[in-house]
Amino acid sequence: MLKGVISGVALTLAVALIGAYSLVQSGLIPANADAKPGRLETWMARTSLDATLQRDAPKEQNPVELSEQNLLDGVHLYAQNCAVCHGSAKGTASPSPIAKGLYQKPPQLATDGVEDDPEGVSFWKIKHGIRLTSMPSFGYSLSDRQIWTLALFLKHMDELPPVVQQAWQQIQNWPVTPVDQTGRK
Ligand code: HEC
Repeated sequence: MLKGVISGVALTLAVALIGAYSLVQSGLIPANADAKPGRLETWMARTSLDATLQRDAPKEQNPVELSEQNLLDGVHLYAQNCAVCHGSAKGTASPSPIAKGLYQKPPQLATDGVEDDPEGVSFWKIKHGIRLTSMPSFGYSLSDRQIWTLALFLKHMDELPPVVQQAWQQIQNWPVTPVDQTGRK
């Protein structure tokens, strides 16, 4: 009896594995980036990310204090590392060609910002990246202090002091070529 059950389970598993392998091999699971993610995929990715953040995101306060200089540093770090995907102060009005083509779409943060998120959550996302999206891990290239400085800027993006606001308005999300600068096409 037990033997029968065990071979039944083994057979079912083998069929399921062969089925899954054939499905992946058949090309029926889309590998293209110019599509909208399905509901199951979105649910799985969101649920897993939320659970990870609850476990791992730092709960401490941002060690980088709120000051004009630190916000300016944040704007500059953002311009160098993030604007190409997350956009300039123009937000969704002017996404870069890279931002338009990615799967998942990077939120244009001037429009869909993360001011409501705890800074520890932004810190975690910037440091570790988000798996199966194009959000990179910056833990290899930026120090923790630089990442907290970015989190500070993202938190206050919609209420910047005038000097910082001015710097933010200058940021480009795509290189301006000399041809563009002279106004010629
Ligand atoms: C190559 C493109 C790319 C670059 C460069 C990039 N990101 Fe992202 N980022 C993404 C994508 C795509 C997502 C959306 C992931 C998802 O759907 O969960 C994302 C998500 C985020 C989120 C979460 C947004 C939300 O609504 O929850 C934050 C915060 C963030 N990125 C910050 C940054 C910062 C700061 C930088 C620069 C240091 C940066 N990203 C650089 C692609 C990028």
